[in-house]
Amino acid sequence: MSGIAAENAVTVQNLLAAFEGESNAHAKYTAFAAKADEEGLHGAASLFRAAARAEQIHAGNHARVIGQLGARAECEIHSFEAKSTLENLKVALNGEKYEIDTMYPGFLAEATERKNTAAIRTFTGALEAEKTHARLYSEAIALLQAGKKDSWIGEAREFYVCPVCGYTSETEEEHERCPVCNCPWERFEIIR
Ligand SMILES: [Fe+2]
Ligand SMILES: [Fe+2]
Repeated sequence: MSGIAAENAVTVQNLLAAFEGESNAHAKYTAFAAKADEEGLHGAASLFRAAARAEQIHAGNHARVIGQLGARAECEIHSFEAKSTLENLKVALNGEKYEIDTMYPGFLAEATERKNTAAIRTFTGALEAEKTHARLYSEAIALLQAGKKDSWIGEAREFYVCPVCGYTSETEEEHERCPVCNCPWERFEIIR
């Protein structure tokens, strides 16, 4: 950790915590997707796969900034249990809520105080993308609780993921550009 300037120490610590959160979310969502497929909830599985890809993009963005600040992006993947898809969706939604309401706003405030534009950019992209995940998970939970397995949660479907910030959409072309980072929509990844 000797290559880190003292004034960046807390920002780096926060970036490492965010990197760990995103890396663990990626691992969880990938397992939750397999479980959803097992339960015949292929649309929910598609959502988990799209969100997993977005979290991987966030982890990569955070890792790049960690490297720029002279540290190494390393973390532990914690063990977890994949329960029923309804439980898994709730776990996922709670994780997103924590990142949206607590983790990223705190990290953003610190990076803003330090005027660290690279950290501000990567935290902002992740925060905004997590809001799209929270919205889609909430929708899936409501449909599953209402027993609507014939809705989009039942059948494999496409999601569109911004390759730069991880913004996730269920609409083929929502805008010309990503509303968060301005990346052209034609560069979006299609995840099924
Ligand atoms: Fe997310
Ligand atoms: Fe984006």
